[in-house]
Amino acid sequence: MNDLQLNPDGSLRHFLSIEGLKPALLEQIIETAASLEQVAKRAVKKVPVLRGKTVMNLFFEPSTRTRTTFEIAAQRLSADVINLDVQTSSTTKGESLLDTLKTLEAMHADMFVIRHHESGAATFFARHAAPGVSVLNAGDGWHAHPTQAMLDMFTIWKHKPRFDRLKVAIVGDILHSRVARSQIHALNLLGAMEVRLIAPQTLLPEQPESLGVHVYHNMEEGLRDCDVVIMLRLQKERMQGAHLPGGDEYFRCYGLTEARLQHARPDCIVMHPGPMNRGVEIASSVADGPQSVILEQVSNGLAVRMAIMAMVLGGQHEVRP
Ligand code: CP
Repeated sequence: MNDLQLNPDGSLRHFLSIEGLKPALLEQIIETAASLEQVAKRAVKKVPVLRGKTVMNLFFEPSTRTRTTFEIAAQRLSADVINLDVQTSSTTKGESLLDTLKTLEAMHADMFVIRHHESGAATFFARHAAPGVSVLNAGDGWHAHPTQAMLDMFTIWKHKPRFDRLKVAIVGDILHSRVARSQIHALNLLGAMEVRLIAPQTLLPEQPESLGVHVYHNMEEGLRDCDVVIMLRLQKERMQGAHLPGGDEYFRCYGLTEARLQHARPDCIVMHPGPMNRGVEIASSVADGPQSVILEQVSNGLAVRMAIMAMVLGGQHEVRP
């Protein structure tokens, strides 16, 4: 994978997966996001890093946060942005992914941001992209959602900059979550003290310990002394069989309530990549409560996506906010 996503000098050519990247690169994304964040506070929220470049957003699955923040991020970097409406595109007439790529490349695209229900779709695009064209993975099947993981790391870093002191719990539907997979790799690369997964057996991947995590099936035990808790949505659209107890029972066993949160450290932050299902995995009083940083995650997505786009297309030495 890294042969594909890195240039020979180790800089980013594509951004497809966290797995296998060097910690220094993740730290560089965080530092670049921190420096670009202040662009949003200016009267004119633009920098010329991607002036003259064309970014195409291709979302084959629904999205609110990722698609919109990628679009705003590209605009803030002064790129021209095209959002392909997949529902009215010629993919509905049977045009293949490869023909779609080549057709859009013929319009001189410089970067594709792709979300697709098939694991590996972004990698497929990157393998077939012309020289000089970059691909960013905005979520592929069950595989990876690397920009989400990086905005989550940026959010954690802003509240708790010493990863080596952190106990982080990821709770819920780990099995179907590309977000969780990318978060686990990122937390391990950044040296988190302990990564815990809290879930019923049916919502865990096979051999989860091989990912470098500790597994809990009980919320109170798993949350004990945690610094960060990340709640996940039940990905019902990816479930083919009955993996689960009903909604009420799931919330009773694995929902994050104010009472349960008290088992974590008093300054524990609560995260959720969204979209949330209130009353299924998280109580509204927690989602909207003082420890929640859920809307900060959304804002941080802008700075992190600006940083990654700038590093990929702007050249890692040319990112000047
Ligand atoms: N977290 C996330 O990917 O949200 P969207 O599906 O709204 O993009």
